Amino acid sequence: MAGTGRLATRLFSGCGWVRGSDSAVLSRLRDEAVVHPGFLSQEEEDTLTRELEPQLRRRRYEYDHWDAAIHGFRETEKSCWSDASQAILQRVRAAAFGPDQTLLFPVHVLDLEHRGYIKPHVDSVKFCGSTIAGLSLLSPSVMKLVHTQEPEQWLELLLEPGSLYILRGSARYDFSHEILRDEESFFGEHRVPRGRRISVICRSLPEGMGPGRPEEPPLAC
Ligand code: OGA
Ligand code: MN
Repeated sequence: MAGTGRLATRLFSGCGWVRGSDSAVLSRLRDEAVVHPGFLSQEEEDTLTRELEPQLRRRRYEYDHWDAAIHGFRETEKSCWSDASQAILQRVRAAAFGPDQTLLFPVHVLDLEHRGYIKPHVDSVKFCGSTIAGLSLLSPSVMKLVHTQEPEQWLELLLEPGSLYILRGSARYDFSHEILRDEESFFGEHRVPRGRRISVICRSLPEGMGPGRPEEPPLAC
């Protein structure tokens, strides 16, 4: 199952992982909306999935909150990680965050069932600083970014299982982001069928909210 996404998107080779409304937006956000396909090895992806599954399985999927941003989901905040997962999270930290950024802790884990989706939203500036980095597990999906003032400006990110996306700066503050529902899950003209997807999301703390100097939160149990 876990290999399906990689196989599917190999068919799209040549398209890359980021599409945009126009080349100006693409070049402006080149360093602010970034996808690293294959950031995780298959083994690392399996390690995270195996570790998260028991904690997620204890919860029920939530639906029908008409005003909620997320539908068909369950979530958890995880503070206790195995050595192997800690090493993965350190790689995320090194790839996505600057040395002066403090991370929100515990780490947010979101499980979308195959019909689940995330409506357009901008993460609250009360809880989240300038950088959001997410690992995608199990199913490919499409994240769409739309400028909140000029909706003709948009980006699509193709998130394969094992990929890491990073939103920072303008991509994080001036654009909403969403995960498209199965019926609308297209990367350009390429259909990206949605299955169950788990994401592991690291966020920086709002500036000024962290300790005076960067401090590594305790990832071990
Ligand atoms: C969120 C969100 C994206 C993801 O939880 O605010 O946008 O990758 N999640 O699951
Ligand atoms: Mn969000």
